[in-house]
Parts: sequence; structure tokens; C-alpha cells
Amino acid sequence: MNPRDLHALPAPDPAAAAHSARLVEAIRVEMAAGNGAIPFARFMELALYAPGLGYYRAGARKFGAGGDFVTAPELSPLFSRCVARQCRQVLARLGGGRILELGAGSGVMAAAMLQELEALASLPDQYAILELSAELRERQQHTLAAQIPHLQERVCWLDTLPAAGFRGIMIANEVVDAMPVERFRISPAGPRPLQVAWERDRFVWCEGEEEPILTDAVNRLQEKLGYALPPAYESEFNARLPAWIAALAESLEKGVVLLIDYGYPRREYYHPARRTGTLRCHYRHRVHTDPLILPGLQDITASVDFSALADAALSADLAVGGYTSQIYFLFGCGLESLLAAVDPADTISYLRLSNQVKILTLPGEMGELCKAIALCRQVDEPLCGFSFFDERGRL
Ligand SMILES: C[S@@+](CC[C@H](N)C(=O)[O-])C[C@H]1O[C@@H](n2cnc3c(N)ncnc32)[C@H](O)[C@@H]1O
Repeated sequence: MNPRDLHALPAPDPAAAAHSARLVEAIRVEMAAGNGAIPFARFMELALYAPGLGYYRAGARKFGAGGDFVTAPELSPLFSRCVARQCRQVLARLGGGRILELGAGSGVMAAAMLQELEALASLPDQYAILELSAELRERQQHTLAAQIPHLQERVCWLDTLPAAGFRGIMIANEVVDAMPVERFRISPAGPRPLQVAWERDRFVWCEGEEEPILTDAVNRLQEKLGYALPPAYESEFNARLPAWIAALAESLEKGVVLLIDYGYPRREYYHPARRTGTLRCHYRHRVHTDPLILPGLQDITASVDFSALADAALSADLAVGGYTSQIYFLFGCGLESLLAAVDPADTISYLRLSNQVKILTLPGEMGELCKAIALCRQVDEPLCGFSFFDERGRL
């Protein structure tokens, strides 16, 4: 599909189109206040998180069949039950503690995890959620009230990360890939930022002047890769990641940060053949690569450079306790035994769960495209999620 061919995408209804037009106006005001263009990271930040207007800050449905995309916890409770089993091991090792979920979406993962931990007699002291979106926070409250009313008092919502002294496990599924990224192109004179401007009736890409910070970052990246990126190569990097990991590390006294996301090790991410980067947009279950259309109405993601994430963790004094593809993580957490516990005579449930397992684990689906990484402080015990196959050597 030609992503600029909007006829290939379902048309937004008039209310959605008007909403998007308001966000376009807000972005254009900011462009006009500068030199006419804004860095892509700022564009992505406004498109996703502008108060009251951004994709994650307004009322669109987003997750699930009636939304734009499906995440693993939305697809199957088996995913959350596996993550719960990893949490249980960490909490048992620590002799108790808290769970903090970052960016909790519709709240289904929190509900399914608490149900599983209750069944395993391993409830955390508290299940905290850090959610940037007031609308999503409200949705999470509804989900938990409907699904686990008797456990609601264990759940609390935070506006900022807990102060130092957190003991337990922090989890985030598909959160890092929703962070704004800097976009660059290798031009004949060196790395240049790709910015966003307005031309006639649409947002367009434009190449910015040399920026020493971006040039340094891309040059350091090429040094780590051990090769020069080819001419006209375009990609992106998450400049905010080190500060975010450092903030999590500052909060974590003892325990694990478990991050699950679409992504690759550095050499795969910046493979010379991946010439246009990893930006992907989701709109009503269509995937395309043009983040400049449908502002506020579509999700925008960039895959995670897990080597950069591991570097940031080491700089923040966290150890990388494991790194593996989602398929191995789920099997390490006992996915097989969870499926085996379903009675095959209950054909409908069994088939439904088997189909969910396929999508969670198939190589062309989430199984290999999504990875799990554990960042540890004072937890040396091997983690069950990485017991099947630990790929830290590839980072
Ligand atoms: C793709 S959704 C994933 C939601 C949910 N974890 C799931 O798997 O269904 C991305 C979420 O990350 C949140 N997010 C993005 N940046 C964040 C940050 N710095 N801290 C906490 N949440 C963040 C967004 O608000 C959104 O809820």
C-alpha cells in the first residue's frame, strides 16, 4: 500500500477528522514559532502525547479488535499469566515486594496478572501503575473494577516514578517502542536530522542543518557498529532512553526491570539493508510507514535498539539478567504447562487458546519480533523467563 494513498485506509469519521485538524493546528503553531520545521521526535511526541489531543491522550479506542492494533496482553491472558510467573519468582526471591507496571494500556494485563498471582498465592504487596494518559487511567480503573473487584485495593496509580527504595519488579510491555525517536539521514556531508514541516496541505519531511549532538550520536553509533552506514540511509534512535533507564534505576533499590517490546540488537537494527528505519504506524489494523498522516488518530512506533538499552542499563549500574525472544521467554515462564492444563475436550476453549499461542510465539509474528530483557539490581538468581534460551551474547 502506498501510505500516502489515504484511499487505501479507512476514512476517519467527521469527529475524528475534526480532532485531527485541531492537533494539526497545534503542531503548525509550534512550527511557526520556530523556523518552520520541528524535529521528528517533537512531532512524534505531539502526535502521541499532546495534552487532550495526542493519540494516547485522547479518547480513541486504540487497543483490541475495535481499535488500531492488538498487543500481547490484549490478544491473550496467557501472555500476562506467563509474565506473572516471572514476577512471582522475583518476588519470592526478594521475600515480597511491589509490582510497578509502566504504560498499562487498557488494564487487562494488570487484571490477568493479579488473578494469576492470587491463584498462585503470590500476590504482591501492591500493584502500582504509572500511566501518562488520564483517559487510559480511567479505562484501567474500569477494567479492574469489572474483572477483579476484590483485588482493587492492592492497585494504585502513580504520577511519577516511586522515590528511591522500590523493591520488586517493574514491567513494561510495548512502552519503549511508543517513545519519541530522533530521525536521521546519512547525507553526503554527514548525518543530518530529518525534521517535519508543513507544505501546502500536509506535513512533509525535510532535512535539517547539521546538529552537533545528533552528529556525535550517529558517529558513536557507527563506531559501535564497526561500519559506516551507507549514503542516504535513514533510521532513528531513542535519545531519551538513557535518562529513562537511569530514572528507573534510581528508583529501584532491589529487584528487576522487565521490558518486552518489538526490537533487535544494534547490528540487526542498523543493518545496511534496513535503509529506511523501523517506524511503523497502526490505524484500524492497517500497518504502514507514514507517521506524518492522520496525526492523533494513528499509533506511531519505532523498534527498540536492545543493545542501546543494555548499554543504558549498565551505565545506570543495572545488570542485564537475560535477553531473549518472546517465544523463549513465554516457554521459560511455563506457557506449555498453562496450555496443557486446558482440557482438550473443551474444543472451543482449546482451539481459541492454541490460536492465541500461535500468534504469541510464531517467528513471523510476535514470537521473534518481540524480545524480553531483564535489568537486575541485587538479583543474581537465573530468571525463569530466560532459562530456555538466553541471547545476551547477541546484544
Ligand atoms: C502500545 S501502548 C502499550 C499498552 C500496554 N502496555 C499493552 O501492552 O497493551 C504504549 C503505552 O505506553 C505508554 N507510555 C509511553 N511512554 C511512557 C513513559 N515514559 N512512561 C510510562 N508510560 C509510557 C503510553 O501512554 C501507552 O499507554
